[in-house]
Amino acid sequence: LPPQLKDVEAAQSLAELGAEAMDCRACALWQPASRTVFGEGAEHAPIMLVGEQPGDQEDQQGRPFVGPAGQVLDDALRDAGIQREQVYVTNAVKHFHFKWTGSRRLHQKPEAEHIAACRIWLNAERRLVRPALVVMLGGTAAQSILQKPVTISRTRSRLFPLEEQTQGLVTVHPSYLLRLPDEASKQREYARFVEDLRLAANYAA
Ligand code: URA
Repeated sequence: LPPQLKDVEAAQSLAELGAEAMDCRACALWQPASRTVFGEGAEHAPIMLVGEQPGDQEDQQGRPFVGPAGQVLDDALRDAGIQREQVYVTNAVKHFHFKWTGSRRLHQKPEAEHIAACRIWLNAERRLVRPALVVMLGGTAAQSILQKPVTISRTRSRLFPLEEQTQGLVTVHPSYLLRLPDEASKQREYARFVEDLRLAANYAA
């Protein structure tokens, strides 16, 4: 069943909204995935972090950013002086998109139709959390929120108005750091990621 837009718009709490999302079949990703992985965090967190989509670990545990990318994110938040309680963490797409290679589930980028179908949930999360700052982690999050293709290198590291009372900030996705080939570039790029998150730290209430 497609989500009833009026139910999504009527949801008065994140708990209510998350419960609605568990049965979402707005795109084809629900079927192979184990479950919807909804956002997590304080009802009125001052900072919202938006990732791409759950990975293998997140799909199994039902929580965002608990796998390897989540570990990098936790480290970087800590190094930027941001507490987990100050952030609401979610994804542009709420089901794991993968293909089987042997016995492994290999991450696949979400397609435009998945991002578009899932935007109702992200919009509803933004309406309920009303963060002072939305941090877009990587191209998928930026594309979902800004509704146009975004070049990370040209957009990152500066604050811009997103809507009344809300600023936006684009940075890299933590998985990008995991994919870098050598230790020197990993360290350099991690430091830049932490610098970006330091801009966000100013918004922590
Ligand atoms: N990558 C994401 O974008 N989100 C997660 O929740 C985990 C990995």
